[in-house]
Amino acid sequence: MNVHDSEHIRGVMEEAGFLLGGSPADAQVIIYNTCAVRKSAEDKVWGSLGSLSSRKKDGQTVVVTGCMARKYGIEFLRKGKTVDAILGIESISRIPELASMRISTPFCELVSTWDSSIESLPTKRTISTKALVPVSLGCSKECAYCIVPIVRGPERSRKPGDILREVLSLASSGVVEVVLLGQNVNSYGHDFSGGINFAKLLRKVADVPGIKRVRFETSHPSDLSIDIVDSIAEIDEVCKHVHLPLQSGSNKILSLMGRGYSKEEYEDIAQEIRKKIPGVTLTTDIIVGFPGETEKDFSETIDVLGRVGFENAYLFKYSPREGTRASRMFVDDVSEQEKQHRLEILNIVQERQTMRALESLVGSTLEVLIENRARKGEYFLGRAPGNQVVLVGADGLREGMLVSVRIVKAGKHSLRGVAEKVVGRSC
Ligand code: 5AD
Ligand code: SF4
Repeated sequence: MNVHDSEHIRGVMEEAGFLLGGSPADAQVIIYNTCAVRKSAEDKVWGSLGSLSSRKKDGQTVVVTGCMARKYGIEFLRKGKTVDAILGIESISRIPELASMRISTPFCELVSTWDSSIESLPTKRTISTKALVPVSLGCSKECAYCIVPIVRGPERSRKPGDILREVLSLASSGVVEVVLLGQNVNSYGHDFSGGINFAKLLRKVADVPGIKRVRFETSHPSDLSIDIVDSIAEIDEVCKHVHLPLQSGSNKILSLMGRGYSKEEYEDIAQEIRKKIPGVTLTTDIIVGFPGETEKDFSETIDVLGRVGFENAYLFKYSPREGTRASRMFVDDVSEQEKQHRLEILNIVQERQTMRALESLVGSTLEVLIENRARKGEYFLGRAPGNQVVLVGADGLREGMLVSVRIVKAGKHSLRGVAEKVVGRSC
């Protein structure tokens, strides 16, 4: 979602005549689009602002937006004279005006309602044929560790008509793949009457002429209905990849986190997905070192990781976030050293699984959608339906082509392949 917000920021700036700069030293305006999900992300921003303070040039405008702007507000101004404007993400269309005015007194605009949307603003994407499309904003789950509901507000679904109009317009401008975004896409439509839900939305988006691929993230295990699983299985355009955050393999920790499912329920859904969607890629998020996590809880997480056999996993050390239930109610009692240790163990286990999953694809033929050039144009980088990165020799290929590729080699994080033939329509 943050990446998509940045696409809007680039779109707004370009439309106003600004160019994306090479380095902060030459820039007229420096924009921080921040994330508050973990402390490590925040530390990068504080560190970067600190080092910018002595190098900031006269006439340069420094803007902070995104979730940290909402969380810290005018606290940014107490950290010296580096920051000129603090804007909620809804206010990014003000940046060109603020940069041109060369403001001398700090400016702060944090809209307090969740009604406003930036979806009508222009976007500038890095991959021309693939677009991120939010279907819902905010989140109404109450995971104890998570700051998202605080900084992004409760879940609001976008109107299906607005989403489809956007996808139609994207398709007519050459986009062939859309990624439907939401903190919990599976509960899409819960706030509308008329029976629209995520399974129906998937079908409608897949039916838009010119759209060859539909992806979505993120799913929540409690809301991933059989209907949705069936739709993923049945609709050709929907990529066979489900990102399904597990967070922990211990029932005690899942309950403390307030995730709303047990490890047995999670494994049942994972099994159902694997049964109904042959060849599906299942990926996940896991947090290690949540308050109260013992060696035994952690070993249960390793066990679930192995049993489900995730093709990939994003692993995080628990980071207390002020204002969340976990930070109010629990002591952060797993030491930093122990969190690091658990993270490394999980990393080793998952890397092996990822390698094995990639190696199992060598010799097979996959449909790869070409995204952009890599390594000085020698290769094109594309993605297989399961979201694996595939490097393909560049001869005769173009961005947006759907190519049948024979996989010849597996690396640690990507595949190497040879293009056999162009399939379907190329744009
Ligand atoms: N500490 C560590 N990881 C977190 N995540 C969310 N909040 C925290 C936190 N406080 C992770 C979860 C989520 C992913 C986007 O970030 O695993 O799924
Ligand atoms: Fe955060 Fe939980 Fe919502 Fe995901 S589902 S954004 S982890 S509160």
